Amino acid sequence: MPDTTSLGFATRAIHAGQEADPATGATVVPIYATSTYTQQAPGQHKGYEYSRSGNPTRAALETCLAALEGGERGLAFASGLAATTAVIQGLLQPGDEVAAAADLYGGTFRLFDKVFKPWGLVTRYTEDASVAGFRPIITPKTKLVWVETPTNPLLQIVDIAAIAGLAHQAGAVLAVDNTFASPYLQQPIALGADLVVHSTTKYLGGHSDVIGGAVIGRRDLLQPIAFYQNAAGGVPGPFDAWLTLRGLKTLAVRMERHCANAKQLAAWLEKQPTVQRVYYPGLASHPGHELAKQQMRDYGGMISVSIKGGKDAALRLLTRTKLFSLAESLGGVESLIGHPATMTHASIPAEVRQARGIDDGLVRLSVGIEDVADLQEDLRQAMA
Ligand SMILES: Cc1ncc(COP(=O)(O)O)c(C=O)c1O
Repeated sequence: MPDTTSLGFATRAIHAGQEADPATGATVVPIYATSTYTQQAPGQHKGYEYSRSGNPTRAALETCLAALEGGERGLAFASGLAATTAVIQGLLQPGDEVAAAADLYGGTFRLFDKVFKPWGLVTRYTEDASVAGFRPIITPKTKLVWVETPTNPLLQIVDIAAIAGLAHQAGAVLAVDNTFASPYLQQPIALGADLVVHSTTKYLGGHSDVIGGAVIGRRDLLQPIAFYQNAAGGVPGPFDAWLTLRGLKTLAVRMERHCANAKQLAAWLEKQPTVQRVYYPGLASHPGHELAKQQMRDYGGMISVSIKGGKDAALRLLTRTKLFSLAESLGGVESLIGHPATMTHASIPAEVRQARGIDDGLVRLSVGIEDVADLQEDLRQAMA
């Protein structure tokens, strides 16, 4: 396989790490369902010894992920949260600090708060994810700056280049959770981030049929994270790696449709009398619209909507849609609807949630790639 770095995104998604199988010529990377590998003599082997340490199907996925994010190396994990855990355990020590934007996935908050706080990690949060907002929470002990953009669930846009500059001045590493955008829409490493983290469960897998995670970055920075990957063992099995790799092949075309559908629905939702506010970075009314235009190719498939009438009205909408499934998660081909306060962000205490604007009337839509007219009609009848 030639060097893929000069190839376009969709070409890399289909070819990077996916040369014909050297053993059989299989065009598609096989599912290497083996835990171990026969050696010619002790220590003499074909590059693989044991599948926690390395597996050819997983290696293909890791190479492809690195190529899509423009990183030197990729590591695949059993889930997005396993990937986040590996970053913290690989790079940080008890007593170190993380500076994080407050609007983030509830499970990431729970991991920092309930798992790593007792371990000795201090995480400081800012509601204002600008340089001015981050400055007061960065201390000499800050080793990691953590942001999502667009954020979950309020779709705030964080200036990756500016925050990377600030993190580097402080001697810290910037990790960007790129799950909501996917590398098709945004490549944080090119904007100055050191690490990209993914829940590959979402757009990268793309079909709501597999859980996975990834970390991508420079080889030297990934070395201790790779050590942790093998030492602690939170790796995906070969079938999960294969499903994710299969999803990646169509990422570019899926994202274009997700974006087109979401753009149309967001504009329509803004005009509905039952809607208080629409959070979508593609709308001119969104405070991060100009920044999103600069650092993203398009605006993504996620929309949050504040419904007039609070929780009761939101719950009515959530239980009346027929095509939008009431379900956790996002980024699959099928449209999902969710209630952050009681679902994805329930692990954040109610008063903290309220203070952050995740009120009980907030509904989150993961807009799929169905016919947009059908999706709009589904929302119309549910809101009627
Ligand atoms: C933005 C974001 N990051 C990380 C995660 C965690 O990923 P996983 O569920 O694959 O562990 C999620 C899951 O919803 C997410 O939405």
